[in-house]
Amino acid sequence: MIIAIDGPLASGKGTLARALAAHFGFPHLDTGSIYRATALALIKKGIDPNNKEEAIKAAQNLDMFNIIDSELRTAQVGAGASVVAAIPEVRKALFDFQRNFAANPKGAVLDGRDIGTVICPDADFKFFVTARPEVRAMRRLKELHSAGDNITLEELTAQIIERDYRDANRADAPLKPTETSIMLDTSDLGIDEVIKKATGIIESNG
Ligand code: CDP
Repeated sequence: MIIAIDGPLASGKGTLARALAAHFGFPHLDTGSIYRATALALIKKGIDPNNKEEAIKAAQNLDMFNIIDSELRTAQVGAGASVVAAIPEVRKALFDFQRNFAANPKGAVLDGRDIGTVICPDADFKFFVTARPEVRAMRRLKELHSAGDNITLEELTAQIIERDYRDANRADAPLKPTETSIMLDTSDLGIDEVIKKATGIIESNG
């Protein structure tokens, strides 16, 4: 069984993906981490993520099996990820790894922006997770502050607006639901309620 989970920044897709993977015993891939790792490789070398040629090289040379998660979660890396993710050749370089992950005979849960549309269009379940922008801003602010990133709410709100716009309007693999996506608005739901809802849907349709 393949479960595809897409949604914007801090919508709760990662939390849901991890919980479903644990519940059903499937491997999980946070596909955002490979875009973040591509951006981080550039940032570490002092290269602007807008540098297309270097971004493509970084994606092509990325060692997906040795990604160190703790370095990826800063606001700067998130913003850079969204920039490199708009480059079609970067997406192409990262495609096979994601597809192979999804082909695991044990099943798989993948979360990102284009899982239901591009990576796993035949997924058994496609969730499109959303939440109101102000709710997402507060969630992400809390996460970033507890990780030691001192970004202000104002800076973060500006980043969210920019990232939402770029991710939903790029020409290649924009963030959007499919006709069969199950919409989940997590604004007024606790984590447990979201997980219960999604597992309920899967178990009653599986
Ligand atoms: O956790 P958050 O929603 O902040 O971001 P993420 O899932 O780590 O993804 C970071 C960025 O990578 C996104 O803003 C997208 O631009 C890009 N991305 C993508 O284009 N396609 C994916 N499947 C996953 C992430």
